[in-house]
Amino acid sequence: MLKKTQLKTIEENKSIKAYNTFGVECFSEYFTRVNSEEELREILLNKNFKKKFILGGGSNLLLTKKILGLCIHVNLKGIHKVEENEEHIVLEVQAGENWHKFVVWTINQGYGGLENLSLIPGNTGTAPIQNIGAYGVELKDSFVSCMAMNVQTAEISKFNLEDVAFGYRTSIFKTTLKGKYVITSVQFRLTKKNHKLKTSYGAIKEEMGNIPVSPKSIADAVISIRERKLPDPKVIGNGGSFFKNPIIKEKQFENLLEKYPEIPYYRMNSSEIKIPAGWLIESLGFKGYKKGDAGVHKDQALVLVNHGKASGQEILVLSQELQKKVKDIFDIYLEIEVNIY
Ligand code: EPU
Repeated sequence: MLKKTQLKTIEENKSIKAYNTFGVECFSEYFTRVNSEEELREILLNKNFKKKFILGGGSNLLLTKKILGLCIHVNLKGIHKVEENEEHIVLEVQAGENWHKFVVWTINQGYGGLENLSLIPGNTGTAPIQNIGAYGVELKDSFVSCMAMNVQTAEISKFNLEDVAFGYRTSIFKTTLKGKYVITSVQFRLTKKNHKLKTSYGAIKEEMGNIPVSPKSIADAVISIRERKLPDPKVIGNGGSFFKNPIIKEKQFENLLEKYPEIPYYRMNSSEIKIPAGWLIESLGFKGYKKGDAGVHKDQALVLVNHGKASGQEILVLSQELQKKVKDIFDIYLEIEVNIY
């Protein structure tokens, strides 16, 4: 039976397969789509549903069990200018806008700042939660603020940069405020000229060769690299990097380097070193590994994939096997980066 609120249709026992980029089969007890702030407010205040699950682009999410309660798909659309001067423009983007489409739009307008973040799957409203990052740039670098609705009270609050506690693949929305707010829109400050372009990340330099540097040429390079290295979720289900790159202390690093002189690393500061999790996994022979339809991607060992009919649980079990092997051999804990439900 379909239950109706004043505005929205609520579907029962809805398949979420098309709404998660891993493409795992999963059902939600109830499901609805909200296209405006008013609809979101109304549904959050609806007391018929005790449990509520917020779904954005579904690109950083592994569903391992049935969603109990109401799944709310945030579909707010629109981009508008907040302010502009000779150098900068501030844009407000609604949460349901596809991230990459937005990035392409900014580049076509001649705006700089998001080019390194091209082709990242997912929606704009969920991008701040894990502070998406790639090729030396993070979302926080152009973030001004976001508006978010309290799941309990439906009140809207503004979060400025200093409120969000951005870190490597994290923010306050992934820690203390996890599950408590729905981001409804995000403001970004982009450059109109004197772009601060970042080409220092090795792969970009190589890809660009002698091509003149511009937001467009960087975006093109990033798109080529990603298309080559990372599986397209439309073709093979995945959630991007499954783990965070671990950050270890100097002492442990020295011991590792002695045993594995070829280990790649990035020094974070005088006492901490980031190690590519992809290298740890690959060096244990897991690149391209399959367990049923759950697998490790053949070109990027940090990405777990669904070759067809894997369940979320099967992918989770595979990830635990990798965590255990990496812990046993390197004494490093791989923290899962995607959200597990
Ligand atoms: N490497 C391997 N084997 C692999 C993968 C990586 O040896 O299978 C080593 C190589 O030495 C390579 C280095 O790891 O040079 C770095 O690899 P890559 O440039 O592919 O980046 P990453 O550290 O594996 C991170 C982000 C990606 C982001 C890229 C580029 C995290 C968790 N992941 O991956 O983000 O696109 O850098 O900036 O920090 C995502 O978060 O979903 C994501 C794809």
